[in-house]
Amino acid sequence: KRLFLLNGPNINLLGKREPGTYGHASLDDVVRLVSDTAAEKGYDVVAYQSNHEGDLVDYIQQAGEEADGIIINPAAYTHTSVAIRDAISAIHPPVIEVHISNVHSRESFRHQSLSAPVCDGQVVGFGIDGYRLAALGLIEKLERREK
Ligand code: DQA
Repeated sequence: KRLFLLNGPNINLLGKREPGTYGHASLDDVVRLVSDTAAEKGYDVVAYQSNHEGDLVDYIQQAGEEADGIIINPAAYTHTSVAIRDAISAIHPPVIEVHISNVHSRESFRHQSLSAPVCDGQVVGFGIDGYRLAALGLIEKLERREK
């Protein structure tokens, strides 16, 4: 059983980038958090980060073939990318969108997500703990489906 954890542009700078907004934990910390959470429930985690829109489309398509479920933070592409939305629409495993910050309390251009309407759920504003919550919610969904 396998989850894909996908992160978009600038998330590689997590911990160094605007720590007042995104906190001090690094992307490695996020990957460890999700991997540990998933491992307790018997799931492996494959993690990718890219600053490039097309790479993210490729990873989403790959996840469509190889993952039972997907956690994605498309970062700035959330608000702009029809290609990422279409890739999510094209695949079958459930997808949960995560935002570290509360995008709704920030600039109005962050209030719209092109991808959220084609995802199965969204976790926003819990800092990096949102990734753990997304993993737990996603695994619950998957286990419920199997019954
Ligand atoms: C973000 C929110 C986006 O608006 C922003 O462009 C990011 C990170 C978040 O996790 O809070 O890069 O997705």
